[in-house]
Amino acid sequence: MKKALVPGTFDPITNGHLDVIARAASIFDEVVVAVALSAKKNTLFPLEQRVELVQEAVKDLPNVTAIGFDGLLTDFAFEQNAHCVVKGLRAITDFEYEFQMAAMNWQLHRSVETFFIMSPPEYMYLSSSIVRELASMNGRFEKFVPENVVPALKAAYAK
Ligand code: PNS
Repeated sequence: MKKALVPGTFDPITNGHLDVIARAASIFDEVVVAVALSAKKNTLFPLEQRVELVQEAVKDLPNVTAIGFDGLLTDFAFEQNAHCVVKGLRAITDFEYEFQMAAMNWQLHRSVETFFIMSPPEYMYLSSSIVRELASMNGRFEKFVPENVVPALKAAYAK
């Protein structure tokens, strides 16, 4: 039984994240979307809501669940008995950061492998931060996020 974690801040989950999660779910027996507290990032949505938004967005993928975590990803992977971490790779700008993370995680726990899934061209430019920026300025962000995220973003910026 191969279990993988798809970690991230998911503030909020986008269609690009969903693509990576669905593709991981087609390869691994079980996928846990690991939603990081990311306290330093001063997120728009609290952890609990980010987890709920992911859970709702992945409800049609039977082998996928979402759980929040705080602390080191490799410790969480160990706790979850997951030996694979799956990350999406967009343009080259992601590479340096992801390379560093994968190398550090390898140093911390040799039993946890990092796998990368290339973003398809339509999601290469997509990020939670650009979606938040669009939503905050009344731009049309709807087609970039799962349906359930639309009202949450509208409500967050209506305040
Ligand atoms: O969606 P993001 O913000 O790019 O996700 C980054 C994330 C949450 C995967 C990364 O920051 C992470 O793994 N955080 C947990 C702390 C950790 O293990 N850091 C790496 C070793 S210092």
